[in-house]
Amino acid sequence: MPDPDDKSNARKVSFTDAALKYPGVDAGAEKPQPCQPCEDAAPETSGASLEEDYATAEGLLDEALDIVGRGGLIRLEPFERLSGSFTERLLDGENLALAAYNKKTADYDVVSHSLNVGILSLQVGKRHKLPRQDLQELCTSALLHDLGMVKVPRDIFLKPGTLSTTERELLQKHPAVAYEAILGAHDATASEKGMAEVAYSVHERCTGRGYPRRLSADEIPERAKLLGLIDMYEALTHNRPFRKRLPPLDAIKEIIATGRDCFPTDALKALIDQLTTYPVGCSLRLNSGEICRVVATNPFSPLRPVVEVIFSGSGKRLAEPRTLDLSRSPLQFIVDTVFEEDLPSPGV
Ligand SMILES: [Fe+2]
Repeated sequence: MPDPDDKSNARKVSFTDAALKYPGVDAGAEKPQPCQPCEDAAPETSGASLEEDYATAEGLLDEALDIVGRGGLIRLEPFERLSGSFTERLLDGENLALAAYNKKTADYDVVSHSLNVGILSLQVGKRHKLPRQDLQELCTSALLHDLGMVKVPRDIFLKPGTLSTTERELLQKHPAVAYEAILGAHDATASEKGMAEVAYSVHERCTGRGYPRRLSADEIPERAKLLGLIDMYEALTHNRPFRKRLPPLDAIKEIIATGRDCFPTDALKALIDQLTTYPVGCSLRLNSGEICRVVATNPFSPLRPVVEVIFSGSGKRLAEPRTLDLSRSPLQFIVDTVFEEDLPSPGV
């Protein structure tokens, strides 16, 4: 068990003994009232920068995790407003992925993970040609899907080896915890029920070997299949204590090798189209030794995106990034993917 008094990483979910008192949802228990702070704390995203929206989202998720951890209920409206703001930014052509891809975490963090899955779901959903309302609902489901992880001890979900039966059963309860925390708050609309159902089903797989209900392919909502795929991609491209994160292309190869039958082909294709080969936000090394960051993709030349050069060939940070369209620069090409943590240190 982690030390409940350890406040060294307050941004991470606190896995206290109290949390374990709520391993599932007691349907017979008296329903607690929705917690007021979450209900009233509508994020002020209008006119805010993307970074401010991102910080608002982190605060909202932190608060919701705290509420779910105490057995409380949450309201969807703040999440819907936030998803709406992200959707508008996406449709206005703003680059949302930069923050999602570059966020560096030492291991699994529910807040960062949920936010990343939400942002990436918008990108892939747009590629999937989902209408505006569907994008907003998809992002909302993504933000909510792992709230129940607050009830799972950290040493279980970060365990490198095989889980025991008891550990697996505890882990697999987390989608139901979030589902009840969302729908227990009030008489849900059809749209809210749909978003909760999607969040509940993200860990189901087309093979019928997912959880918690072991649904078959045609029983799983299409949006949940898409989110399940993005959830796996996000996990593979971020660090865990027992493995380093994979570059985007390697993550896709891993999914194709081990989970191809788990997801629909069209969802996989949308992910590949949108997030590989070199997604926006990805840092790269060129044959010149320069290090750059992808700022736009070239649909007809995916191996040659538009980049901003941020470090010279000798590793010196440029005072002003230089934009370079690799599709128009035949003598320059990409030789490697570079993670943020591997970039030359500031001031070099
Ligand atoms: Fe997840």
